Amino acid sequence: MRIDVLTLFPDSFKPFEESIISRAQKKGVLQINIINIRDFTKDKHKKCDDTPFGGGAGMLMSVQPVYDAVKSVWDKNSKVIFPSPSGKVFNHEKAKEYAQQEHLIFICGHYEGIDQRLIEIFDAEEVSIGDYVLTGGELPAMVIIDSLSRFVDGVLSKESLNEESFSNGLLEYPQYTRPQIFEGLKVPEVLLSGNHAEIAKWRKEMAEQKTKRVRPDLFKGEKGED
Ligand code: ADE
Repeated sequence: MRIDVLTLFPDSFKPFEESIISRAQKKGVLQINIINIRDFTKDKHKKCDDTPFGGGAGMLMSVQPVYDAVKSVWDKNSKVIFPSPSGKVFNHEKAKEYAQQEHLIFICGHYEGIDQRLIEIFDAEEVSIGDYVLTGGELPAMVIIDSLSRFVDGVLSKESLNEESFSNGLLEYPQYTRPQIFEGLKVPEVLLSGNHAEIAKWRKEMAEQKTKRVRPDLFKGEKGED
């Protein structure tokens, strides 16, 4: 999968040079290009912001450099995403859906956002990562890319995807590693039993209890009722 990220702050994406995302790029299963919107401005002072029509606080990103930056990478198979607090809230299902795309283009907004016509021209999907406002679209783009990358074939093993929070509508069960007793606290006996059926049963129960307690909104009972 190819992802082009358009930003005024390319250095914000240094975290992609680490760990799983970096390995996926080296393996060739993911290609992430970071593109500086400022390289596309025709303004002689390299300005990339402008005042909003109708007045109001703050500035918008200038239309021309964003438009030219998207045009430089766009084709008919591209899906354009605009992280914004006024979009639909991103979740596990959306991450899986984006992972099926051939090519994603992220426009990272700054200042008060972008001109509505850019959203219309490129049929951009506005996506929020939660009900709070960040100073720019770089962190949300990184969150979305990190999360969708896990579903791109070849990035993770199938097992790690099946056993995690949300994959079965539940939060993940608690996990333990060595030593068996740490600070006086023991690992639950069943996990040492070697009885795989009992372990699976215990994990399911723990996942259900945790989901009910922490995220009652997610919990569906045995018959699918709330
Ligand atoms: N830009 C600023 N805040 C945001 C949010 N909560 N989600 C996505 N993009 C944003």
